[in-house]
Amino acid sequence: MLPRLSHVLLAALALSRTILAEPSADDQLKAFFARERVAVKPVNFGRRSAATTPTRHLRPEAFEDEAALRKRDSLTPPDVGQVADWGGSNPQPVRNGAGDTFLANSNHQIDAQNPDNVAAPPTDSGTVPNLKWSLSLSHTRLLKGGWVREQTITDLPPSKDLAAAELRLSPNAYRELHWHRVAEWGYILNGTGRISAIDENGRSFISDVHGPTNGTDPDIYYFPPGVPHSIQALEDGLEILLIFTDGNFDATGTTFMLSDWLARTPLEVVAQNFGVNVSLLGGIPQKDPYVFDSTVAPPPFGHASEQAVKDPNGQVPSPYVFHLSDQERKSAPGGGGWVKIQDSVTNFPVSTLLASALVFVEPNGLRELHWHTSDEWLYIISGNARATAFAGSSSSRTFDFQPGDTAVFPVSYGHYVKNLSPTEPLIYLELFKAPKFVDFSATQWLALTPRQVVADLLNLSTSVIETFKTEKQVIVA
Ligand SMILES: *[C@@H]1O[C@H](CO)[C@@H](O)[C@H](O)[C@H]1NC(C)=O
Ligand SMILES: *[C@@H]1O[C@H](CO)[C@@H](O)[C@H](O)[C@H]1NC(C)=O
Ligand SMILES: *[C@@H]1O[C@H](CO)[C@@H](O)[C@H](O)[C@H]1NC(C)=O
Ligand SMILES: *[C@@H]1O[C@H](CO)[C@@H](O)[C@H](O)[C@H]1NC(C)=O
Repeated sequence: MLPRLSHVLLAALALSRTILAEPSADDQLKAFFARERVAVKPVNFGRRSAATTPTRHLRPEAFEDEAALRKRDSLTPPDVGQVADWGGSNPQPVRNGAGDTFLANSNHQIDAQNPDNVAAPPTDSGTVPNLKWSLSLSHTRLLKGGWVREQTITDLPPSKDLAAAELRLSPNAYRELHWHRVAEWGYILNGTGRISAIDENGRSFISDVHGPTNGTDPDIYYFPPGVPHSIQALEDGLEILLIFTDGNFDATGTTFMLSDWLARTPLEVVAQNFGVNVSLLGGIPQKDPYVFDSTVAPPPFGHASEQAVKDPNGQVPSPYVFHLSDQERKSAPGGGGWVKIQDSVTNFPVSTLLASALVFVEPNGLRELHWHTSDEWLYIISGNARATAFAGSSSSRTFDFQPGDTAVFPVSYGHYVKNLSPTEPLIYLELFKAPKFVDFSATQWLALTPRQVVADLLNLSTSVIETFKTEKQVIVA
């Protein structure tokens, strides 16, 4: 295992009750440790100390004593909040003289993926609910022609705006014709497919979509609420991340399958409706298949037009597919990566209920401290990340992420997302139930506030504040 590691930490070698501070690959942290490393003793966590407060439900008034107002630099080093590292041993809930080892059982593999659950940085405080869900914990529904697994509000209750699913289709298999009460947004994780839909005026849409093949960024798509659609995998098979604009996505009345509807309607009505003899309808399915195999292979990728039905009403005026490969990667001013933002105001007009960003964070890079005006839902495509959600009221909680993890930062929660790897990029999606991508940058705010105001609040010299960047950094190197 690579040491976790550039930001490495203090190994709590639990059994011997010694705590080792590992040197960090980060130059600034190295200098800090060189300067500050001392015989390790219990850290005075100052106003952040849960030990000095009577309950876990911290209230701001609990801190209004002199000790509580001590600033951070009165804390005993060297704990500056890095990810705990147990040097390859099983994680133990021990940090800086607090906690104790597991005396019985724990799931060490889950602990190892979530070191900040086991031994959080001392800045974590208060009661913040779980904000993370791994799709590996979802029930996977196996179907003839693929599988699907979901994350809904029952899995991740704080995610009220958005729910998600991963859908896999075998080569040429279909996701059957259906529509939703909510909007659907899709990101092609791999493979190739063909989607078709019509709008309320009978204008049609057909398009091929692909994942990150041939070194390009993949396609995304958006179906407004009510727009009926279907998806077919092409010769490579298909895997899609689906997002729906209601956390309670499994509720009855959210998804409507065409074959289910017909199976639940008197057959003579179906026959009259379509103007055909009832004897022709004996074979229609009595139960909706959800996913099913094709009987005839479709024309290959790039040949969607061969399958299009001639539509006297024309095509939908605003495409449902957005080719990320046609969009320029916008380098972050902070030098730590790039982003591609899509929303209805800027470049994807049809996507009025969903704004999105594909974020690429260089090794060790940091998506800067920021917040949004809607819930942020995120999905880790690749890499390893760490994020702390600040909930206000002296409450914050740190989470660790691996590929396939989903998470939510409720509206206005302050947060950052850090790439923990010194070698691998972090790629993830930020999604919002909103017509426009909006974020506020902490650094930009402080840089554009009268300097003395910031200096007096943070007990920093104005010369330090002058170095803060007035432009959003987005991702810091
Ligand atoms: C897509 O699937 C192919 C075949 O399994 C695999 O080689 C490739 O790494 C996958 N690409 C991504 C981005 O997961
Ligand atoms: C990838 O490149 C191959 C070879 O040029 C081509 O046949 C295939 O259609 C491309 N795939 C996509 C999704 O563009
Ligand atoms: C429907 O088909 C059956 C069997 O082919 C036939 O006997 C019947 O007359 C047809 N009914 C109508 C209304 O065409
Ligand atoms: C401000 O910080 C300095 C060290 O940089 C410290 O000596 C001083 O006590 C702090 N002042 C307050 C009010 O915390």
